[in-house]
Parts: sequence; C-alpha cells; structure tokens
Amino acid sequence: MIKVLVTGSEGQLGQSLKLVSKNYSNIEWNFFSKKQLDIRKFDQIIRVVLNKKIQIIINCAAYTNVENSEREFTKAFEVNSNGVKNLVNVCEKLKLKLIHISTDYVFDGKKNGEYQENNKTNPISIYAKSKFEGENNIIRSNSETLVIRTSWLFSPYGKNFVKTIIKRSKHDGEIKVVNDQFGKPTYAMDLAQVIIALILNKNSFKNKVYHFANSGKTSWYNFAKKIISYKKIECKLVPVSSSFFNYKAIRPENSTLSTKFIEKSFNLEIRSWNLSLKDCLKLIDE
Ligand SMILES: NC(=O)c1ccc[n+]([C@@H]2O[C@H](COP(=O)([O-])OP(=O)(O)OC[C@H]3O[C@@H](n4cnc5c(N)ncnc54)[C@H](OP(=O)(O)O)[C@@H]3O)[C@@H](O)[C@H]2O)c1
Repeated sequence: MIKVLVTGSEGQLGQSLKLVSKNYSNIEWNFFSKKQLDIRKFDQIIRVVLNKKIQIIINCAAYTNVENSEREFTKAFEVNSNGVKNLVNVCEKLKLKLIHISTDYVFDGKKNGEYQENNKTNPISIYAKSKFEGENNIIRSNSETLVIRTSWLFSPYGKNFVKTIIKRSKHDGEIKVVNDQFGKPTYAMDLAQVIIALILNKNSFKNKVYHFANSGKTSWYNFAKKIISYKKIECKLVPVSSSFFNYKAIRPENSTLSTKFIEKSFNLEIRSWNLSLKDCLKLIDE
C-alpha cells in the first residue's frame, strides 16, 4: 500500500483531500496539520517520514495570506520557499516523491489569453515571489517531483472568496467587488481528486509543472454574482476596479491558466467552475 503524507492538512486543500481520500482505502493516508508538523523544521519532517515510512509527500502547507505577505515577507519566504526546500532535501535524502502546489500568481497577468506552463513567469507580489522560489526549489531538485499550479481556490473549508461573499452579502445590503481581474475559480475538492489520480499514475513524477483549474474564465465580480444568485441572497453588488481597495499586494489582471497539458497527459475532463460551485454550496451551511 502506498504511504502518503499530507502537510498543512487543516487548510482548504488539506481538508478537501481528507474528505476525498475516504474513497481510496488502497492508499495509507497520514494527515499532519501545522501544529503536528511544521515544514520549516527539517528534523520534524525527517522524524515523521521515517516513523510513518512515507513514500509520497503532498505539500498543502503554505503561507497564503497575499496581503499580509507584503508586511510579513520573512514569514512568507520561510514557509513558501525555505519550508519547501526542507521537503525537497528530505525527499532527495530518502528518495521520496513530492507533489507541490503553486499558484497562477507566478505570472504578471499582462498576457491576453490563457497562460501555458512554459510561458514567461514574472511574480509581482511578495506572496507570488515566495511561491515562485518554492516552485523553483522543486523544479531544480533531483527527486521525483510534480508541481501543480492552481488558481482562485474555493471550498467549504477555511477562508475563501465564496464563504466571504456569502457572509458579507447576508450582512450588508451592498458590497463592492473587483471586476478588472480575470481568472479561473477552482474547487479544492476537484483538485484533490486530480492529485489522487496523479498519485496512482506511474507517469506523474517526471519533474514537470502542470496547470489545474476548473474550466471557464471569469472576474471576481461575476463569480460573486453567481454565488449570491445560486444562494438566492438579495444583495446589491457594485463592480469596482482593483485600485478602489488600495491593496498593497498587486494581483495579476489576467491569470487564466490553460489546462490543456494536464488534460492531454492524464486524459482528464475538467468541469466548469459553475458546476463545481453548485456542489460546494451544498456543503456550506451559512
Ligand atoms: N487559496 C487560493 O486561492 C490559492 C490559489 C492558488 C494556489 N494556491 C496554493 O494552493 C495550496 C493550498 O492552498 P489553500 O487555500 O488550501 O491554503 P490554506 O487554506 O491557507 O492552507 C494552508 C495550510 O498550511 C498551513 N501552514 C502554514 N504554515 C505552515 C508550516 N510552516 N508548516 C505546516 N503547515 C503550515 C496553514 O496553517 P495555518 O492556517 O494555521 O497557518 C494552513 O492550514 C497552497 O500552496 C497555495 O499557495 C492557493
């Protein structure tokens, strides 16, 4: 039986994997939260991996607060770059396989059209730069790895756009939402399903980068409109430009990821974010 370690197991993706993994009893799952395993600590990783005889690590641990990263850049780099380097070093030392999750924010968003895996990267925020370093740590490693870049993750867990819009639209009569940033929302449960499919496929660990996102490009504003319409919430949504919020972290204008490579390589059919959103909303009680 394959023995798998999931780091950062209390995050959106970690919890989604926990739920989806229940259908895969042919894999031995070891879920470790930040409290149980801090990826900044090499010795802790080694101890867990040896103790549990781990063969594959799925890294769901990350510092994901894009705005706070601008102030706490050391923290962002400690986790997203140095932490990932620790995982790489452990995998090299013990000959383990490693799956890592990266972000659409490695691109500057200036391209018209979808980003392919080999397009020029140019991260523009601290969070994006820290994730980009982490990605490079993996790509340059000698172990068997795989990087999946994803975008606009949502789920019934943790903090995310879908949950924030539901909460705020129920509370406020009017909310302002950015309408000049475009991307592809991704249901963490769909990503979890793909990660498991890749674990079970012998051709996955070839040190390649893949993009995975649900199909369909949208703006945050249109995404929010769908959320409140499916939830039947009465609230006025006002489209605003990115500059309205005075954010410190600059986000890419267009970070739509092309998913053709992963679809072709693993014979996947990716559903639209609309359909996935409907499934996700069934699991959100708020
Ligand atoms: N969310 C998005 O929209 C998005 C978009 C593109 C890519 N991604 C990438 O997708 C992956 C999963 O994202 P997510 O939304 O599931 O993130 P998340 O909900 O923030 O989960 C990340 C988890 O990692 C934990 N963590 C932080 N520092 C750690 C450390 N040093 N050691 C171990 N665990 C640590 C966090 O714990 P605490 O919460 O207690 O700190 C949290 O439980 C990340 O790599 C992220 O960069 C996310």
